[in-house]
Amino acid sequence: MPLDSLPPDFASILGPAGIIADPSDMEAYLRDWRGLWRGEAMAVLRPATTEEVAACVRLCARDGIAIIPQGGNTSMVGGATPEAKPRQVVLSLARMNRVLEVDTADMTMTVEAGLVLAHAQRAAEEHGALFPLSLGAEGTAMIGGLLSTNAGGNTTVRYGNARELMLGLEVVLPDGSVVNGLRRLRKDNTGYALRHLFVGAEGTLGIITRAVLRIFPAARETATALCAVPDEDAALTLFRRFRTADEGAVRAFEYMSGTGMDLVTRYVEGATLPLSERAAHYALVDLSASRERAGLRALMEGVLEAAMEAGEVTDAALAESEAQRAAIWRLREEHPEAQKRAGASVKNDVSVPVSAVPTLIREASEACRALIPGARPVPFGHMGDGNIHMNLQQPESMTAEDFLARSHDIMDTVNEVVRRLGGSFSAEHGVGRLKTDMMAGWRGGAELAAMRAIKAALDPLGIMNPGKVLPGDA
Ligand code: FAD
Ligand code: MLT
Ligand code: ZN
Repeated sequence: MPLDSLPPDFASILGPAGIIADPSDMEAYLRDWRGLWRGEAMAVLRPATTEEVAACVRLCARDGIAIIPQGGNTSMVGGATPEAKPRQVVLSLARMNRVLEVDTADMTMTVEAGLVLAHAQRAAEEHGALFPLSLGAEGTAMIGGLLSTNAGGNTTVRYGNARELMLGLEVVLPDGSVVNGLRRLRKDNTGYALRHLFVGAEGTLGIITRAVLRIFPAARETATALCAVPDEDAALTLFRRFRTADEGAVRAFEYMSGTGMDLVTRYVEGATLPLSERAAHYALVDLSASRERAGLRALMEGVLEAAMEAGEVTDAALAESEAQRAAIWRLREEHPEAQKRAGASVKNDVSVPVSAVPTLIREASEACRALIPGARPVPFGHMGDGNIHMNLQQPESMTAEDFLARSHDIMDTVNEVVRRLGGSFSAEHGVGRLKTDMMAGWRGGAELAAMRAIKAALDPLGIMNPGKVLPGDA
């Protein structure tokens, strides 16, 4: 497909450091993390300031060039990957990566959108504070991308999603004007809460350039355990036991299946199970407190002892050091990488009410096995907030291509169960380009009409991340 060439005005705004046009240098920006999509772009724009972003957007609006905003490019739904069209650019926020201010009086942090999550966490730590968002891609994903997908991750059960961690935003709108909402207020009821419109919009309404984030007191005590549990119900009962004992102490509660753990220990170097034998189900419990001598070890041991007596936990390994804690977390966080190395997989990032998680796992697994004999369900994820990754690994006897050709059948099969349980077809990864065809069936009628009206009002030319989130060419 012949690409149009980039008008020369961009070079005068961005200079040579701000434009990548060489095809081999552009390649990493044109493909997604899962290796499912590849697109085209006239160039990758890498502005260094909000003013440069705004000037680029104005030129794009003038010339009808579509813009694909990109952060760390770790999207699981192809949200940051361009399509195969002649007039579009990727706009990477990677050069806008500064921490502008950490304020431990207001407990806020003001950052640029291209700041990598791990760097945001470190900046908070350096001020004796905590930025609690945490997920497997934290070494690559950026604040703008995390907010644009309203990322969840491992600590939602305690701190909420990215939305709950945001107080203010600066956004460049599709006409190049700038909304300066970098306020650090806990209360601000002044008309429509525009800042929340851009959280979860996946780059279809504007470009987030800076954000005010909430920070929290640092953890002074932690206790982490990996537990073998007999079934999904026991995992949920264990979660309830901890919540009842001390709800405020639960930082994360994650579920993993035996199949997923087997993939991690097989495909990830150095990943070993700290338990005497393999189990069919596991729960990872992570407790933390900002006060000293919080008694978390005693809490952990007390709850696990009671759960063992009740037959709800059959074995457990408690972390005795920071290294052991990291090793336990690694077993959980390497699930996506292990699945990738093990061949093709279909991801179903779904949520249900927390009480329905065991039924979801059982019924969706059974339905997938019936649909594709030999396929291996790999359910894992954020049990404490009701978000399970109901992923399916290809059968060993099937080619990756044949298996992936069934992706939509598999997603439909899982979603049938999810719908019956009152859940959502996308819990934390967003819609991207993968799930646009589900929007009409799940969010149709007035809800989708309102979304289309918002899109048309803010982006009448349709240049912001076209083909993502909304079905059709809206
Ligand atoms: P990108 O992938 O670059 O972009 C994501 C979307 O946001 C795209 O639609 C893009 O156009 C848009 N966008 C990016 N930056 C901006 C901006 N500044 N302004 C406007 N729009 C923008 N997600 C979770 O929620 N929880 C998890 O536990 C989790 N675990 C993961 C583990 C692994 C190993 C991987 C690879 C991914 C995981 N993800 C998870 C998915 C992914 O990391 C998140 O969706 C993350 O929020 C994306 O951040 P990013 O900077 O990579 O964004
Ligand atoms: C995770 O929680 O590890 C990811 O969001 C899940 C996935 O890769 O499916
Ligand atoms: Zn997840």
